[in-house]
Amino acid sequence: MALKNINPTKTAAWSALTNHFNNVQNINIKDLYKDTDRQKDFSIQFDDLLVDFSKNRITKETINLLVDLAKDIDLKDAIEKQFTGETINVTEGRAVLHTALRSTSEEPVLIDGKDIKPKIQSTLRKIRSFSNKVISGKWKGYTGKSITDVVNIGIGGSDLGPDMVVESLQFYKNQLNTHFVSNVDGDHVSEVIKKLDPETTLFVIVSKTFTTQETISNAETIKNWFLKSATIFDIPKHFVAVSTNLEAVDSFGIDKKNVFPMWNWVGGRFSLWSAVGLSISLSVGFDNYKALLEGAEEMDIHFRNENFENNIPVILALLSVWYNNFYNAETEAVLPYSQYLKKLPDYLQQAIMESNGKGVDRNGDKIEYQTGTIVWGSTGTNMQHAFMQLVHQGTKLIPADFIGYKESLYGLEDHHKKLMANYYGQMDALAFGKTKEEVHLELKFSGDEDKINQLLPFKVFEGNRPSNAILFDKLTPKSLGKLIALYEHKIYTQGILWNIYSYDQFGVELGKELANKLLKNQ
Ligand code: F6P
Repeated sequence: MALKNINPTKTAAWSALTNHFNNVQNINIKDLYKDTDRQKDFSIQFDDLLVDFSKNRITKETINLLVDLAKDIDLKDAIEKQFTGETINVTEGRAVLHTALRSTSEEPVLIDGKDIKPKIQSTLRKIRSFSNKVISGKWKGYTGKSITDVVNIGIGGSDLGPDMVVESLQFYKNQLNTHFVSNVDGDHVSEVIKKLDPETTLFVIVSKTFTTQETISNAETIKNWFLKSATIFDIPKHFVAVSTNLEAVDSFGIDKKNVFPMWNWVGGRFSLWSAVGLSISLSVGFDNYKALLEGAEEMDIHFRNENFENNIPVILALLSVWYNNFYNAETEAVLPYSQYLKKLPDYLQQAIMESNGKGVDRNGDKIEYQTGTIVWGSTGTNMQHAFMQLVHQGTKLIPADFIGYKESLYGLEDHHKKLMANYYGQMDALAFGKTKEEVHLELKFSGDEDKINQLLPFKVFEGNRPSNAILFDKLTPKSLGKLIALYEHKIYTQGILWNIYSYDQFGVELGKELANKLLKNQ
């Protein structure tokens, strides 16, 4: 059975939310905080993760009504349909099963009557055995030397996920140097290969279709560079592929044994849990890669089973709808307080904007309400010295996710205390601001009254700017898996609420077509 087709704005919950919004739109987080239980009432603890959403312009009634919206839209039914492999990617005629890739349960997942779990398990075994050989030095290049460098050649979902995870898990990395080539800009590939030795480099070509212009151009350029020092018979020792297109991989010259499968039921931007994550496993070892999958599975189970009121991805999705559709906020910031997560905003831009940047509903009709949010961000504290001025005092409402860790990895206590003081300080400043009276008191001794009055308006912080605190104990492969899966489920929940298809991406095609036409006419 297909996904239901319900216009959210026609539901009873939406009308109730509209009335409620008219009553509460001017509420102030500072006033709401007079309730001393607020933080407790608006937080969800899930193992090593605490999500505190108390600094939002919401009351208990707002949450109840948003949860009613999720019920009116039958989110539960949509979640079950995704997990059980129904063809929810209707426009491409596919199931969407990144959750099956990390599932350790016995529950079979059927596609065309066949359980896909055995294929997933055998691919994981292949990833493990290959990673072990390369990392241990048993896998030799064409001159008998071990591999020192791994280059992931891919773009979009075949690049951003692995690149972000490898960067985020740098602390857990082994001796292999990992590089990523994505852009068709020849300067990108040139800069990467200039540092490499063909005798000791392994190239992982990742392309679900194996037709993507950027990836194939980069792979061909790299192959030609490699063949300046080696022969075509040496290719199997240095090139492996992750793809669904076995024919194209074969004509590229890659040995069948060195092909890692991909499947149509895994979307590119949700694929780091499949063999697309091979460079992750090579970089941090299979056990850490498996722990990443375990963390994601924990979030899957939480998302599938928890009541909406205590369901982290659902609550974050609903809050985002509250700001996007009622307060007309257009963007959201993702602000990790960990330098390791500096690539997370880029990764989430594809995951969120390629999924929910849609203007047509599941009926094929033009949508009259707002859908996908614009996502952007950077790491704290760097961004405090860059764009936070606008978030604090600008004219736009920008809800923000602050991602933090109780512990640092190297244990420089003094640094971590400062980092976390900034993490909390920023959220407090956004929520509570600084009044005229407070500014006045501060300036009292620093000048004459005229000067103070002149400066006053510039120094006031309105506050009432929303944020979510997403706080983990520690950055580990497992907690990272949980975090990524959290956002994946938020994306799906929002797509369901907005009555759109989140898993196709036709919007990326026209530009590609026109570029190809231009190339042909040259
Ligand atoms: O940009 C569109 C897109 O299809 C993404 O969804 C995908 O992740 C990327 O291109 C790469 O595709 P492929 O893995 O087939 O090379």
